[in-house]
Amino acid sequence: MGDVVLSFAAPGDVDAIHRLECDSFPAPWRRAFFDQELIASGRFNLVARRDGRIIGYLFAMWFFDEMHVNKIAVDERERRQGIAHKLMDRCIDFARSHGVKTIALEVRKSNDGAQDFYRFLKFEPTYVRPRYYPDGEAAVVMTKTL
Ligand SMILES: CC(C)(COP(=O)(O)OP(=O)(O)OC[C@H]1O[C@@H](n2cnc3c(N)ncnc32)[C@H](O)[C@@H]1OP(=O)(O)O)[C@@H](O)C(=O)NCCC(=O)NCCS
Repeated sequence: MGDVVLSFAAPGDVDAIHRLECDSFPAPWRRAFFDQELIASGRFNLVARRDGRIIGYLFAMWFFDEMHVNKIAVDERERRQGIAHKLMDRCIDFARSHGVKTIALEVRKSNDGAQDFYRFLKFEPTYVRPRYYPDGEAAVVMTKTL
């Protein structure tokens, strides 16, 4: 099994990203949304590959001293091997070197695994946005101060 390689997401990656998105989230982003994120300004979008295959991605946006992680997912068969940790570390390094002071994200209230992952990275739950998701579930906003 080859090493995990991170790179910036490119238009040719969107099919694979979207497949992972549909496998990973109950209300996945539409494919076109990823296309738009790739051309929007102030974005930091990464993919992780092993042996050329996309096994994870992170989509984030940044404005002045704040960064927002919009999406992170890892192929179910590749979880608990530190791949999301690598993606987030790269994002945090970028944030630090660009003067970002706070990284924030929303996570479903029921998504205990992801909340544990963010706690592992020293994110803290800050507040709850009721009915944030289309199916009515609340989001926990978690933030990390750099
Ligand atoms: C959340 C997610 C991105 C984590 O990816 P991952 O590559 O498995 O995470 P890592 O291996 O880097 O985890 C690092 C540490 O975080 C914690 N962690 C990660 N996933 C966890 C889980 N499901 N339950 C408890 N702790 C978890 C552990 O401390 C882990 O270290 P360990 O495996 O040595 O115990 C992945 O489970 C996923 O894609 N989930 C579906 C999509 C999703 O929910 N995304 C987040 C939406 S807000």
